Amino acid sequence: MSRMFVPGPVDVADEVLQAQAAPMLPHRSKEFEAIFRRASEKSQQLFYTKQRVFLTASSGTGLQEAAIRNFVHKRVLCVVNGAFADRWYEVAVYNGKEADELAFEWDTPASPDQVADTVKQGGYEALTIVHNETSTGLQNPVKEIAQAVHAIAPNTLILVDAVSSLGGAKIEMDACGIDMLLTSSQKCLALPPGLALGAVSDRAMKKAETVENRGWYFDLIRMEKHRNKDSSPATPAMSLIYALDFQLDRILAEGLDNRFARHSAMAKRVQEWADAHDLSMYAPEGYRSQTVTTIKNDRRISISELNTFLKQREMRIANGYGKLKDRTFRIAHMGETQMDDIEILLETMEEYLQKA
Ligand SMILES: Cc1ncc(COP(=O)(O)O)c(C=O)c1O
Repeated sequence: MSRMFVPGPVDVADEVLQAQAAPMLPHRSKEFEAIFRRASEKSQQLFYTKQRVFLTASSGTGLQEAAIRNFVHKRVLCVVNGAFADRWYEVAVYNGKEADELAFEWDTPASPDQVADTVKQGGYEALTIVHNETSTGLQNPVKEIAQAVHAIAPNTLILVDAVSSLGGAKIEMDACGIDMLLTSSQKCLALPPGLALGAVSDRAMKKAETVENRGWYFDLIRMEKHRNKDSSPATPAMSLIYALDFQLDRILAEGLDNRFARHSAMAKRVQEWADAHDLSMYAPEGYRSQTVTTIKNDRRISISELNTFLKQREMRIANGYGKLKDRTFRIAHMGETQMDDIEILLETMEEYLQKA
């Protein structure tokens, strides 16, 4: 396996790639329906939920759009402190909703009190927030935000993007009272891209029944009718579901708490390394991602040259995202990545820094 320290698509274990190679079945067959049900039921453990988990043949953005189309009749508040939160806001605008943005600086976590106050004043049906901003390596205090919003505006639905954290950092859907929690296959689940997973609460499903123009492909009411028969309205991404079924066994065998501890230890190691090399973190202490670390490029390293050097050793890291390009760089430590891989990366980066 190569070593890709980029925040998705990540390296996929050979045996998981192999799981995709199982022969096709008719998707409306008892054999495939059993696999579909198994994968969807096992996924509930990842989300810490008893609620339904939809598996869609799309990337995560598809479910950002599904959330807007199904749960927002008119007014939605989008909390924005990074590029993917901004995308969700755009998705709402492009779907013709009255979307308001509650913006924070990209290096600032969303404040629970400010979010709750804004929700109360605006009378929003739903709010969107990103748990783990892949563009900044900042983790928002989603649990505290959900609590504050429940206390002040109990009818507002809470829609959370955990695309780059679910399966790598603990986020408990039911305990937090989240109404939709969504992720993509190509990040902490260490699967190929093309599958999205979204868990949805009963009350959100009730709301969806009242929302017009939910579209067709991502109409969750239609999807639910099929899901109840272990199926989907359109042809599912079968090979990816084979791989998900297999990978969930590997993830659950590792143990979720062990998996989170592995991710957190790698994050800590990268932070310590940066500190020892006069490089500072982009996200403030207490709000740093467990799955991707964003480091300020205080030493003005040429990220493209560094990556050229790393690629000769079959490794690569990620430049800063969008406006943070070259001002920051990102080291992802998610999915299959182990501490030994991180040690090799850091040693190689050290070698480059000494040469440069
Ligand atoms: C936090 C976050 N949300 C949403 C997305 C979009 O997901 P996808 O590329 O699976 O559509 C990404 C992609 O990197 C992401 O990191």
